[in-house]
Parts: sequence; C-alpha cells; structure tokens
Amino acid sequence: MHNRVLQNFNLDACYGKTLLKDGTKIIDKFKSLKLSGANVTVPHKEYAFKLCNEAKGIACDIKAVNTLVKDGDKVYGYNTDAIGFYESISSFKNLKHVLILGAGGTAKAIAFILRKNGAEVTILNRSAKRLDFFQKSGFKTSSWDNFKTYRYDLIINTTTAGLNESILPLEKELLSSLMQNSSYAFDVIYGKETPFLKLAKESSLIYKDGSDMLLYQAVFAFNLFYNNRFKTEDIEKEMRKAFNLAYI
Ligand SMILES: NC(=O)c1ccc[n+]([C@@H]2O[C@H](COP(=O)([O-])OP(=O)(O)OC[C@H]3O[C@@H](n4cnc5c(N)ncnc54)[C@H](OP(=O)(O)O)[C@@H]3O)[C@@H](O)[C@H]2O)c1
Repeated sequence: MHNRVLQNFNLDACYGKTLLKDGTKIIDKFKSLKLSGANVTVPHKEYAFKLCNEAKGIACDIKAVNTLVKDGDKVYGYNTDAIGFYESISSFKNLKHVLILGAGGTAKAIAFILRKNGAEVTILNRSAKRLDFFQKSGFKTSSWDNFKTYRYDLIINTTTAGLNESILPLEKELLSSLMQNSSYAFDVIYGKETPFLKLAKESSLIYKDGSDMLLYQAVFAFNLFYNNRFKTEDIEKEMRKAFNLAYI
C-alpha cells in the first residue's frame, strides 16, 4: 500500500520490512537504517512508546506506538491504529455503549479512541489478567466469569478467535443474546467472514471487518511520514487499489 502511493506520488522513498529481535534496540535500529519513518508491529509497540523521544496524542494514553517519524535529530511516536479504527466506523452512529471483546494491544487503541469520542466502553476478556491496565485507566471491565449482560450499541471482536480457527470469541448463547440487542458489530480480523461476523449477519446487525482499519492506519501513518502534506483521500485512493489486489 505504501509503495504504491510513493510510486504514484513520485516520491523518492521505499517502504520495506525488517525483523527486530530485541525490542529494546528499536530506536538504535531505526537510526542505524537511517529511516525517516517506520511502522512498528507486535510485539514492539510498547518498546517504541517507551524509547521514542516523545509520544504524541492518543499514543500517550494507549502507551503503544505503531508509527515512528524522524524530525531533526528526534524520533516521535504516534498511534494510528486508534484513528484508523475510528475512521473505519465513521458510518456507525449513536455509539453510547460499546462492548470490546478481548484485552490485548488492539483493544487498548480502540477503547481510548471510542472513549475520547464520547462512548462508554466495557472490556470483556476471557481471563482477568490483562484487565488491570483497563481498570486503572477507568474503563468498565469484566472477565467471562463475572460478566453482567447489558445493552450495547456496538460489539467489537479484538480477540484472535476466528483468525485461524473457526471459533467464536464468546459463548454462542451469550453473544447471540448481546447481538439481538445491539445495532453494530466490528471484527478487527480482516479478509474473511469470521464466525463472529457470521453471527452478526444472522442477527441482522450492520457489521464490518478490519480491512478499513488496516487501510486507514496506513493512510494516517503515510501522511505523518510526510508532515501531513497530502490529502488523505488521495492516499486512500491509491492504497485501496493496492489493498484490493492483495486481499480481494
Ligand atoms: N485490522 C487491523 O488493522 C488490525 C490491527 C491490529 C491488530 N489486528 C488483529 O487484532 C487481533 C488481536 O491482536 P492483539 O495484538 O490485540 O492480540 P493480543 O494482544 O495477543 O490479545 C489477544 C486477546 O484475544 C484473547 N483471546 C485469544 N484467544 C481467544 C479465544 N479463543 N477466545 C476468547 N478470547 C481469546 C486474549 O484473551 P486472554 O487475555 O484471556 O489470553 C486477548 O485478550 C489479531 O487478530 C490481529 O491480527 C487487526
């Protein structure tokens, strides 16, 4: 996606990948490769947050960075997963109460951007161990064994259930009854109809997979690499063509 835009905008740059084994070396590696920008993926987003010179915007709440940008001799950190997600659900309206299934890194980005935009967010996770961060950040939390059902406008699957195996992220009867009382469903997994999305469809919800989230986090990252000098629509147009070639 990035390379297609670089090529079509006639920019003298290329986007590649590098394997980083030791997350504590992320900024050293960034500098030794003489990069001007980079995206960071699992499991190094927290190291990128801690080790960049300054984290910007919502990355400070999430405590994870997926985009690094060099400016002078400093390296700044951003989180475009959060705004990428929010842009991808721009057609979902009246989101007052939102339920997030899962409590990993993706859930953090989504929880903060939804709260910033006025939603009350509940995190429901299989186990209790990862809920601490959310509790301390002031979110409502529950593990499977102490969940009390409620009416949610939007239900989001941020778990890996459905990625490689055909399984639901929550017990079917409970998820089905939550969906009966909901309006929207979103799965961060992209490029396939997961059991979660299949159930959303059967429950007549408006639903989306994670394709646009992936696309928009890249669009916003690209613009940060170039100091926001391009129109996001122009970047999106090119990236969408590249994305469709790869996934559709
Ligand atoms: N569309 C996009 O742009 C985008 C961006 C980022 C990530 N993603 C996708 O988001 C997903 C999550 O990534 P992550 O980095 O947040 O993962 P993570 O940090 O490893 O968290 C995974 C979460 O899933 C839960 N889980 C795992 N297996 C489960 C199961 N069988 N039933 C119920 N819960 C289960 C875990 O619960 P426990 O705590 O109990 O283990 C944990 O809360 C991945 O599929 C990734 O590809 C998509």
